[in-house]
Amino acid sequence: MSGAAATRGRVAIVEVGPRDGLQNEARPIATADKVALIDLLAQAGLTRIEAASFVSPRWVPQMADGAAVLAAVARPPGVRFAALTPNLRGYRAARAAGADEVAVFAAATEGFSRANLNASIAESLGRYGEVAAAAAADGVALRGYVSCVTDCPYEGRVGPAAVARVARDLARLGCGEIALGETLGRGTPDRVAAMLEAVLADLPRERLAGHFHDTGGQALANVGVALAAGLRVFDAAAGGLGGCPYAPGAAGNLATEALVAYLAAGGWESGVDAARHEAAAAFARGLKGGGGERA
Ligand code: HMG
Ligand code: MG
Repeated sequence: MSGAAATRGRVAIVEVGPRDGLQNEARPIATADKVALIDLLAQAGLTRIEAASFVSPRWVPQMADGAAVLAAVARPPGVRFAALTPNLRGYRAARAAGADEVAVFAAATEGFSRANLNASIAESLGRYGEVAAAAAADGVALRGYVSCVTDCPYEGRVGPAAVARVARDLARLGCGEIALGETLGRGTPDRVAAMLEAVLADLPRERLAGHFHDTGGQALANVGVALAAGLRVFDAAAGGLGGCPYAPGAAGNLATEALVAYLAAGGWESGVDAARHEAAAAFARGLKGGGGERA
């Protein structure tokens, strides 16, 4: 439809490039470069930025400087900075570093939970109960991820019921928002639709976010399916950065610039300035696999 006016409503983008994107880069990236990327993203109008992880530095060395990153980023009013936390220790470190929001991350399969967290799903949820209690006491927003919502690198295809169960468990723990992680980027729109139908049987659409990796080039089509199902929050990474160190074969996240353009073409407002975002995307691409491209 040509000349579509921005009348369909608002869609929020959660920028995960500085975390989900950079965590997968093998070569060390300077703290100053991470900070520069995050500042460019905020300048482009992104108001939710997942900036760091407070996980084991032995498991993900690239994220070891999370506190330094959060200490150095500009804090424009209206921008929320989130951090990934695998346990109470991570939660406390994230809060001490000034994270506005924290995210815990469970999986729909035992295989991925074990590879990513060295814990069963039940054990991970036990840890997240502790994080949720602390976050509730502190009045901190808590997000919960479910990984492998259609496919798992260790167990293959994942049934919608397993996803719905973990999403429900995270919601019960106190996660205000549940991000449905299509970790491998191999999910097709029909399978994403079936997964969403199962999750939406238990949880309202307002509590769900779509997190699509783009290995198979289907991420935008999957956003389309999720929009049709009523979801209004989507994760993306500048420059299509990304992957997960514990998901072999997974490529980058959906590129934020592609999502911004897709939403604008469909008449949705994202609040992101596409021209300004190009500077962030170019900088992000420069961080990928070496070589810095200063904006
Ligand atoms: P573990 O080895 O089972 O447990 O790790 P541990 O208690 O023995 O801890 C290992 C080491 O980490 C110890 O230090 C701990 O003190 C330390 P060491 O004795 O080796 O010197 N440690 C910590 N250090 C800093 N911060 C902490 C922390 N906790 C323990 N919070 C653990 C268990 C959960 C810690 C580990 O498995 C881990 O860190 N996993 C995180 C893996 C990760 O970050 N994966 C990528 C993010 S998930 C993702 O990308 C998917 C997503 O994007 C959605 C999607 O796409 O599907 C979210
Ligand atoms: Mg991810």
